[in-house]
Amino acid sequence: MIRVEELHKSFNGQSVLDGVSFSIERGEVVTFLGLSGTGKSVLLLHLIGLLSPDRGRIVIDGTDITRLSERELLAFRRQVGYLFQESALYDFMTVEDNLAFPLEEHTDLSDAQRRDKVREYLAMVDMEGAGGRYPSELSGGMRKRVALARALILGAKVLLCDEPTSGLDPVRSRDISVVIRDLSRRTGTTTVITSHDVANSFRISDRVFVLDKGRVVAQGTEDDIRGSQVELVRELVG
Ligand SMILES: Nc1ncnc2c1ncn2[C@@H]1O[C@H](COP(=O)(O)OP(=O)(O)OP(=O)(O)O)[C@@H](O)[C@H]1O
Ligand SMILES: [Mg+2]
Repeated sequence: MIRVEELHKSFNGQSVLDGVSFSIERGEVVTFLGLSGTGKSVLLLHLIGLLSPDRGRIVIDGTDITRLSERELLAFRRQVGYLFQESALYDFMTVEDNLAFPLEEHTDLSDAQRRDKVREYLAMVDMEGAGGRYPSELSGGMRKRVALARALILGAKVLLCDEPTSGLDPVRSRDISVVIRDLSRRTGTTTVITSHDVANSFRISDRVFVLDKGRVVAQGTEDDIRGSQVELVRELVG
């Protein structure tokens, strides 16, 4: 579903991605682990075409997105849900309106159909009662749930989550991680997560990739990663 080949990206002569390659199967949930500043967010931004590489290919569902025009990219992005680190809900809109917004922009659903869909997606993230509330009236964990529902409401084929557990306590971290896994399974999305959170990454991912100095230095199941002899990987999961 996603194949990345030899991705290179530098900023001002500083190399951030230095030949990143990997493939992800349709329906897989994978996590990229790595220290701060190793390029996890930069990698996700490439997967949605908000950054373009200096070199390399990004093939998603058969299309090399590095070759798309701006217009084609806009259409492509509609199939990708993106959960930003800071949730990025509209503070001036209720939860319901936040979810209805992409539907109004990109579908021809009637008011009633939109309301049903919003209700369905709020239920999926266990937020049925919160439709009339504003983001400022929600906890960080609840905001993430709403943002997740909004990211998926257009029927995304690919879901990208940048640090979904950052800023949350251990209980909420576990919670949102499990919700992401369950929703990915239910909707069949291919899901790519970035994280520092080793325990939850193993809990919910089919495979984990470890990034260091712009390269994938370990990949596989929890056992594969725990068995790695790479120094940084041992420090991370030790
Ligand atoms: N638009 C940009 N212009 C210049 N440098 C950038 C840009 N975006 C990212 N960088 C640099 O790329 C490097 C990787 O950043 P990135 O945000 O991907 O790290 P990260 O792995 O997501 O870190 P964290 O775990 O803290 O979120 C950093 O050194 C950052 O300063
Ligand atoms: Mg980041």
